Order: sequence, then C-alpha cells, then structure tokens
Amino acid sequence: MRLLRPSLACFAALLLGAQAPAPLKLPGAPSEGASLNTALRGRATARALVGPAPTLAEAGQLLWAAQGENRPGKRVAPSAHAKHPLELYLITSGSADLGPGLYHYLPPGHQLTRMADGTPATLLGAIKGMQAWIQEAPAVFVMAGDPSRIGDGALALHLTYYEGGAAAQGLLLQASALGLGAGTAAGVDLEAVARTLKLPKGTRVLTLLPVGHAKP
Ligand SMILES: Cc1cc2nc3c(=O)[nH]c(=O)nc-3n(C[C@H](O)[C@H](O)[C@H](O)COP(=O)(O)O)c2cc1C
Repeated sequence: MRLLRPSLACFAALLLGAQAPAPLKLPGAPSEGASLNTALRGRATARALVGPAPTLAEAGQLLWAAQGENRPGKRVAPSAHAKHPLELYLITSGSADLGPGLYHYLPPGHQLTRMADGTPATLLGAIKGMQAWIQEAPAVFVMAGDPSRIGDGALALHLTYYEGGAAAQGLLLQASALGLGAGTAAGVDLEAVARTLKLPKGTRVLTLLPVGHAKP
C-alpha cells in the first residue's frame, strides 16, 4: 500500500500534466502607437460589433492595458494596498492566431491559459436576459475580482469595484488606440456569468467588455 499510493499520485499528476495546455505567451506591448489624446478622443461605446475577433497581439495589448505588469510585480492599473484582487478573462470566437475559447490572463509572464471551449454566443448566450450586443460580440473580456484579497466587508468590495473600473478604462482606451470597437456592460446578471464560466469561489464578475470592429 505504501508503494501504491505514491505511484497512483504520480499517475494522476502525469495525467493532469498531460491535459493542462501550455500557457500562450503573448507578444509584448509595442512602445509606440496612437497618442493618449487620440485614444481619449476616440473612446465611445460601440455596440454594433463585427469580427474578426482580436488577434493574439491585439488581445495581448488589451489585456496588458487593463492588468499587465509595467514594472516587476506592479500593474498598469493602480491597486489598493497593491493587493491585486482583479482577474481578467477573455471569451473569444477566435481569430487567425487565437482560437475560440475561454482564457485566463496571467499578468506575470504576460500569458494566457485556455480554460474551456466556447464563444461569447455559446457561453454567454445561455444566460437569461443577456444583452444581444454582448453575446453577439466577437470577443468579450470579463473583468472579475476577489475582494477577500483586500479584506472583509463593504470597503474591500468597494475597492475591488473601483479598481475594476480603473482597469476597464485602460482596456477601453487601448481598444480606441487600436481602432477597435468596445464597450463596458454591467447591466446583466453578473453572478450568472461567474457561475457559467465556473470562476473560482469568491470571484465576482465586475463588468463585461465586448470588443470587435465597430460596424461603420
Ligand atoms: C458601470 C457601467 C455599466 C454599464 N452597463 C451597460 C450595459 O449593461 N449595457 C449597455 O449597453 N451599456 C452599458 N454601459 C455603457 C453606457 O451606457 C455608456 O457608457 C453611456 O451610454 C455613455 O456612452 P459612451 O460610453 O459612448 O460615452 C455601462 C457603463 C458603465 C460605466
């Protein structure tokens, strides 16, 4: 029995290891591009969004603008006590170099891990009352957060939502700078979104950010 236990554990670990896909390394954000003033002028909610969904490079820039590291261990968006309660997910219908699915952003290392199959239509479309422009978007970024990383109670909740708003604005400005259409939407059943995406216990969805190309 003593021998059997470790060998079973090794077998399970090997099996799990074989199933876990390697994280996707995202391209680094370019140091040049549209000016901040151009991005600010262009920021507007776009609800008529068409494909293609963001490429790997575009997704990388959007994720980085919201939650990327711009110094070792610190992020583009400010964080209360640097507790970093936010988690950012991407649901995409797929583009030339980024397949459809649900992904999780890992700021250290600027990587994406694939969590599940699906598209905005298949994953969000089943949620009661989901707004059409969200489920029909080529991609939806899911801004989520775990307030318990800051503390208990109303203040931790407040700070997490505040931080989610600051990070969301970074993503919206980056979308504007890249010439992509985007918006933010919190007027849906965000708890149902967390359940549907099987987000970790304690993780709240703060807002959804549909992204695509604005229909002219
Ligand atoms: C916290 C928040 C929640 C929002 N929720 C929704 C939403 O559920 N659906 C939607 O179509 N727009 C939503 N919006 C977008 C606003 O309707 C939009 O920002 C507003 O009409 C101003 O237009 P603009 O973004 O083009 O300046 C939301 C915006 C914020 C800040």
